[in-house]
Amino acid sequence: MAARSKFAKAKSKSAAKSKSAAKKTAKKVIKLKTKKLAARANGKGLPRPSSKPWGEAGRALEGVKILDFTHVQSGPTCTQLLAYMGADVIKVERPGIGDITRGQLRDVKGADSLYFTMLNGSKRSITIDSKHPKGKEILDRLVKECDVLVENFAPGALDRMGLTFEHIHKLNPRMVVASVKGFGPGPYEDCKVYENVAQCAGGSASTTGFRDGPPLVTGAQIGDSGTGLHLALGIVSALYQRVRTGRGQKVLCAMQDGVLNLARVKLRDQQRLKAGPLTEYSQYGEGVPFGKATPRAGNDSGGGQPGWILKCKGWEEDPDAYIYFITQAPVWSAICDLIGKPDWKTDPDFATPPARLPRLKQIFAAIEEWTTTKTKFEVMEICNKHDIPVGPILSMKEIAEEPSLRATGTVVEVDHPTRGRYLTVGNPIKLSDSPADVRRSPLLGEHTDEILRKVLKLSEKEIADIKVSGAITAPEKPAKAEAA
Ligand code: COA
Repeated sequence: MAARSKFAKAKSKSAAKSKSAAKKTAKKVIKLKTKKLAARANGKGLPRPSSKPWGEAGRALEGVKILDFTHVQSGPTCTQLLAYMGADVIKVERPGIGDITRGQLRDVKGADSLYFTMLNGSKRSITIDSKHPKGKEILDRLVKECDVLVENFAPGALDRMGLTFEHIHKLNPRMVVASVKGFGPGPYEDCKVYENVAQCAGGSASTTGFRDGPPLVTGAQIGDSGTGLHLALGIVSALYQRVRTGRGQKVLCAMQDGVLNLARVKLRDQQRLKAGPLTEYSQYGEGVPFGKATPRAGNDSGGGQPGWILKCKGWEEDPDAYIYFITQAPVWSAICDLIGKPDWKTDPDFATPPARLPRLKQIFAAIEEWTTTKTKFEVMEICNKHDIPVGPILSMKEIAEEPSLRATGTVVEVDHPTRGRYLTVGNPIKLSDSPADVRRSPLLGEHTDEILRKVLKLSEKEIADIKVSGAITAPEKPAKAEAA
């Protein structure tokens, strides 16, 4: 009994020992796991920060392949930006024809127009007849290879090619399918839309121009290029979400929505009208009553600080000798001194922003008397010293020649084999670790062979068969030996 109890004691002692050892090991494991988890959480699952010098760690979108079905302006703006960011953009064009803009507004006979070249830089071009059975086969293979398909065809055109989202998703569930259309779902969804249609339908034109004139469209392509920009953001967001979900999705940007997004301050004013007149609009100061909708504001400043475009020295000959002048409240004293009206600093009619609102016409006329004695650049230099916000009206000639824009890569000169050197707009979005990759636009079908060989890894025989099929070029006659 005693021996047994001794044995039992020893057993329970060793059991307790091994229990505590196991507990210790378990604790250690938990500690290690927690440490690992904490480290991962700190790094958010990301690799260690690169120690490579800035700009030498690859480009932002390196490795992303884009199947680019875009044409004209909106879609090409989007894919050009993605190409500048380092994506491999494969532009699909109709054999023998290509993007219609290649031949529009031509300035050099026989060469791709600036319309095309300035919207399709840094891309590769492959010609494929998307309605040809063999062409469809090539496209299906490209869908499997690429990460994103971008298109801005008229509504239904992509489906008519057989490239429905369902078909694409089945072939490549990871693919992001991004589209620009004129309108979102609704009464106008089937309409074809160009820039100015979108500017009008998105609320921009009704709020642009002078009160006593018709609605105006703007020179900035907010419908086309603006929507292309929106689409680019949608695409990179979808790619980011794909990292978590593993699947692609549809991205849709309607031009009407894009314009409205850029004109949102005018929808703000529409709602403010219920609370009374819009005091920062010069029509308030002029005693002109407001109607039911946001009016055209001429050159009134969009924010709460009154501003206007004023003549500068030389305005009689130079249509761009003007400056935008903002009478910001904190620098009112400096403005009064500059224009020789020091008494306005204390005059109750001019001393405060509310007192000035009904007198803006008179105030800007006095400032203009001063600005017409100086060039727009002199006004800028003088005003900047006093923190007075002004903006010279720069012509496109001045912008093309501006050295600082060349230095930052915003305006870039590239060489082209058929048209020679031309200027293009580089990447306006500067990434410190991803320098922009701005190259000339491709010739029609310049990279067809390269893409079939290197991206799709087709054999010589397959390529030869495709060539005679008429899917990528006008049908070629087979060589005699092959024909036999
Ligand atoms: N192979 C064979 N056919 C091709 C092709 C290819 N590689 N690429 C295009 N096509 C065909 C299309 O399938 C379509 O044929 P379908 O109508 O028989 O289906 C045809 O070319 C024309 O395409 P579409 O987009 O209708 O061009 P369009 O010149 O008639 O219209 C727009 C141009 C811009 C008005 C229209 O594309 C549109 O509304 N796009 C959406 C909004 C937009 O982006 N607008 C701004 C443009 S800057």
